[in-house]
Amino acid sequence: MDRAVFLFFFTLISILLDIYFYQIFKKYKLKKWFLPTSYVYWSITSVTFLNFFFYFFSLDLGYFFKTLFFNLVIGNFISKVVALPFILIDDIRRFFIKIYPYKKKKQNNVIPRSKFLSISASLAYGLPLTSLTYGIISNNVYDYRIKRRVVKLDNLPSAFDGIKICHISDIHVGSLRNRLAVKGGIDMITNEKSDIIFFTGDLVNNRSDELKGWGDDLSKIKAPLGVYSVLGNHDYGEYTSWKSENEKNRNFKNLITGQKEFGWKLLMNENDNVIVDGQKLNIVGVENWASSRFQQYGELDKAYSGLTDEDFKILMTHNPSHWNAQVTNNYRDIDLTLSGHTHGLQYGIDIGKFRVSPVRLAYKQWADLYELNRQYIYVNRGFGFMGYPGRVGILPEITILELKKS
Ligand SMILES: [Fe+2]
Repeated sequence: MDRAVFLFFFTLISILLDIYFYQIFKKYKLKKWFLPTSYVYWSITSVTFLNFFFYFFSLDLGYFFKTLFFNLVIGNFISKVVALPFILIDDIRRFFIKIYPYKKKKQNNVIPRSKFLSISASLAYGLPLTSLTYGIISNNVYDYRIKRRVVKLDNLPSAFDGIKICHISDIHVGSLRNRLAVKGGIDMITNEKSDIIFFTGDLVNNRSDELKGWGDDLSKIKAPLGVYSVLGNHDYGEYTSWKSENEKNRNFKNLITGQKEFGWKLLMNENDNVIVDGQKLNIVGVENWASSRFQQYGELDKAYSGLTDEDFKILMTHNPSHWNAQVTNNYRDIDLTLSGHTHGLQYGIDIGKFRVSPVRLAYKQWADLYELNRQYIYVNRGFGFMGYPGRVGILPEITILELKKS
């Protein structure tokens, strides 16, 4: 669906929800706090409308206001959607009470809103808002965590038994503001002294010029066997507007040359290999793969060219949905897949082996290591962040994988 159409319906539903919730809110109109609170309430609704207005007329608000608007609109929407079932149950209950006159009589023409449902609705509304606010002010977006996993692979050539891989993803450099903290994150990557590094896409949010000033830091990401990268959905400049197709193409070229300048090897539907003791580690890199035709650039057939079933292969693909869609059925010989993209929604619970996030509704594999019939996929939770400038429970990640021959 076209983004403007999507945003139109989203804005419409959001405003209708605001009007619906106000019917409940206004029963407190005799309270002192009602008037100032209602100003705040309708201000958020106005922001929802303005957000659409600015998008529709391609007006650039600048990073600060864009982020502020985005968070208010999304936070308000999520909170209302979570609270909606409680309000609906209560309204349905009230409706049935209304159509039975004997109930009406019993309650002296007053239909009390169930206290339990009111409290539940308030909690359901308050929890997302409070936790999302906490996720921003806690500065969690720079609280980098190293996840260490051992992956046992049948087909691993003996020369690579024990190889240390660093996997990073979704840097989204345009979102990063705390340079000192990011430098610390990059130091964490380099201090691991991994044999090889894989970056699985979304280097920028929209434009290659987000890389300005970051060259020296990103060039520090080096490894003896090389740094390999692929493109993510945000790297194509398709979530922003351009003056011309030429400008968009120039932006894309700059993103590609930028990665070359860092010393990274960007794989665009192609494969490469590193050789140790005469044995090959094949790296297959696809462009962004999507389940719809929009942003479908990944061509695994093409990327695979020249390889045989017997070769050991690591696939880099930004979107983990690609694994179930093609890899686990048509490419049973791909040993390990590395992905990112989900960010774990930057929201969830992630303690030890227990992890849960609403993003699971959209992605079967959304964080950490998964195995199916001796094929593995690792989904990195992202180094940076996008849109929501916070993280709740799902922290930014640097993955260290040790490959072992099984
Ligand atoms: Fe991303």
